[in-house]
Amino acid sequence: MARQLFAKKSVEVLRAEAFDTEHGLRRALGPINLVSLGIGAIIGAGIFVLTGNAAAQYAGPAIVLSFVLAGIGCAFAGLCYAEMASMIPIAGSAYTYSYATMGEFFAWIIGWDLILEYSLGAATVAIGWSGYVVSFLRDLGIHIPAHLSAAPGTQVALPDGGTVTAIFNLPATFIVLAVSGLLILGIRESAGTNAAIVLVKVAVILLFIGFGASFVNPENWKPFVPPSTGEFGQFGWSGVLRGAGVIFFAYIGFDAVSTAAQEARRPQRDMPIGILASLAICTVLYIAVSAVLTGIVHYSKLNVPDPMAVGIDATGLGWLRPLIKLGAIAGLSSVILVMLLGQPRIFYSMARDGLLPPVFAKVHPRFRTPYVTTAVTGLVVAAAAGLFPIGILGELVSIGTLLAFVIVSLGVLVLRYTDPHLERPFRVPGAPVVPLLGAASCI
Ligand code: ALA
Repeated sequence: MARQLFAKKSVEVLRAEAFDTEHGLRRALGPINLVSLGIGAIIGAGIFVLTGNAAAQYAGPAIVLSFVLAGIGCAFAGLCYAEMASMIPIAGSAYTYSYATMGEFFAWIIGWDLILEYSLGAATVAIGWSGYVVSFLRDLGIHIPAHLSAAPGTQVALPDGGTVTAIFNLPATFIVLAVSGLLILGIRESAGTNAAIVLVKVAVILLFIGFGASFVNPENWKPFVPPSTGEFGQFGWSGVLRGAGVIFFAYIGFDAVSTAAQEARRPQRDMPIGILASLAICTVLYIAVSAVLTGIVHYSKLNVPDPMAVGIDATGLGWLRPLIKLGAIAGLSSVILVMLLGQPRIFYSMARDGLLPPVFAKVHPRFRTPYVTTAVTGLVVAAAAGLFPIGILGELVSIGTLLAFVIVSLGVLVLRYTDPHLERPFRVPGAPVVPLLGAASCI
């Protein structure tokens, strides 16, 4: 029994499954698609919302350093994902890697843990999306009824100063169902839509950096690391660390690229490109945005839900404001898309391994997508997004992701030891130090 619980699946068997393309998922994605899936999943609520809160409450202008620190931690984990995904190019991501390295029991736990990242991640971001869309539509004179725009029991403020008790978050449910429908229709269609959305959000971020840079007042950066209040995590160097913990959420998503491994045309070469290039591009953008934002507005004014819009207000470039909102909506849409792409593929892999009923391993004969798991995931996430408030969900997402990163980093070491001669199209440089640092920084 115990032996069965810890039974492992050999990398050879997994590879054979990965390249059984006759009835499986469609191999349609090239390197550009994979990089844009990564950027699609990474840039979202983190940069558009959390940066301001973390600067105002914990790190001040040194939030830039928090982004550097979190980026370094994610780079360690990203390298480990790149080695695993190029070696075992299968849709299950961390779930499959732990099956190969630690056995069925750990794989089962990680499979469910990833629900925290992908399903709860999608629900959390859908709720943020709803908030931005309701406010954007209001600016255009279109009013979504307040009682249909938040979780049941939430008090929603009305324009006339009154409040109303919400019964359901309709926009959040709508976006989850719409994206799930698209994901069922095809990986090519989904990746194409994602690429278009990514162009919009990256363009908006570049506009913010480009126009904002000339309004930076270096006085706002002084002192760069504000003195600690005496309490751990409130400014000073401990604040930089705490800030890094909070904005870690902004980096979540590069790992989701690995769930598309079975749909990549050349996974051995392109998985590392997709994971590492998207992470590198987003790290540079994040550092630039946080430097510009804290340079144009004093950090103490940034504890708001829309810090980049506050930054734009300070520049007087009013025409950029609606664009920032549009960029945020685009950003959140693609995060939802990639999270809802990742989750069903993990369930699909679990069902193929017999850890879920076989019906979940069904691939649509025409669309070649895992349509049963996509539909079930979509319905459950849509209900969660409609019924729960955002605060409960956000932290669970980071916990679930960090655990997966630890397992993947350790898994690289285990396989290097147990299967040293396996072909590794991409190797983490500096092993065992880098994987150990990856695991340690996530712990
Ligand atoms: N990184 C994603 C975001 O910031 C989860 O929304």
